[in-house]
Amino acid sequence: MVTGLVAVCANILHQNVGRELIAVPVRIRIARPCAYGKHAGGAAVAAPVENNKGCIDKIMKIISAVTTMVFSVFCLLAVAGIAHAKGGDAKLGKDKAALCAGCHGDDGNSMVADFPRLAGQYESYIVKQVRDFQSGHRANNETMAGMAATVASVQDAKDIGAYFSSKKMAKQPLTDVDKKLVAKGKKLFEKGNPLTGVYACINCHGARGKGKSKDISVFPRIGGQHRDYLIKELKDFRAGRRANDPAGMMTAIARKITDKEIMAVANYLSAQLP
Ligand code: HEC
Ligand code: HEC
Repeated sequence: MVTGLVAVCANILHQNVGRELIAVPVRIRIARPCAYGKHAGGAAVAAPVENNKGCIDKIMKIISAVTTMVFSVFCLLAVAGIAHAKGGDAKLGKDKAALCAGCHGDDGNSMVADFPRLAGQYESYIVKQVRDFQSGHRANNETMAGMAATVASVQDAKDIGAYFSSKKMAKQPLTDVDKKLVAKGKKLFEKGNPLTGVYACINCHGARGKGKSKDISVFPRIGGQHRDYLIKELKDFRAGRRANDPAGMMTAIARKITDKEIMAVANYLSAQLP
């Protein structure tokens, strides 16, 4: 389990910290049997001087990895919290989602681009967004904040999330797609932009933006989402209007992409239907 989570986090943090992350647990293990550990254990006799020097060296290395640790602990907690969460009940969620359906559609396939598709989205991502709107952590839409405030409990959010998640995404995009832009967007999505340091979206959002897996639901499904909603979110991240992304992962990327790239990738993604 723990190894799995570490692997997941290594993946998440690949961009920021790369192999550093893997190195951290190893360093801690090396440090344990040294003088640092003996003092902590209450032993009266200090380790020989040359051992101490080696230990200080190792401890310094650990301190230098503190930033990495902060990132990884944050990430582990986020992933572990989501992995351990008990799921919602889609049947109960259907009734609880009556209000939501007014904008997001009965089956999570809204007919207006302002309202994102929730059909087939990960349950825990939906729950996170509702809670982020409630707490003000996601503050890029007042209407939705008001709607989130009507969700009375985390269990209700989970049931609603389970309901929408169980629905299939509609096979039609709302907007016509421009084939040239789709090709450009596909390239950015799959390869990133090495010239400007844009990390390829596929690394986090999975092939065709369909997500990685239910257990890695920190990365939402974005393939088949409405074009204009995608454009709005990318611009919101870029401008700092939306800042609820774990470890600023999405903001860091959005800051590096141009309006043209946003248009292209949103065209591509809106065409990635089931
Ligand atoms: C009056 C219309 C309206 C209603 C009703 C509504 N929403 Fe929303 N919702 C929105 C809008 C608009 C957004 C997009 C916010 C933005 O611009 O980022 C949104 C976004 C969301 C998101 C984020 C999706 C994503 O991909 O990040 C979730 C989750 C969500 N709504 C859940 C709900 C739930 C649950 C309910 C019912 C309790 C609900 N909504 C009711 C308008 C509505
Ligand atoms: C390092 C991982 C990572 C990469 C690479 C990445 N994203 Fe994201 N993205 C995230 C995370 C995490 C979130 C969810 C933020 C949250 O919890 O609210 C997200 C959210 C989004 C959203 C909002 C989805 C919604 O339903 O509201 C869009 C749109 C998006 N990403 C597009 C992209 C595009 C386009 C690229 C490539 C240019 C990209 N992402 C690359 C991690 C990443």
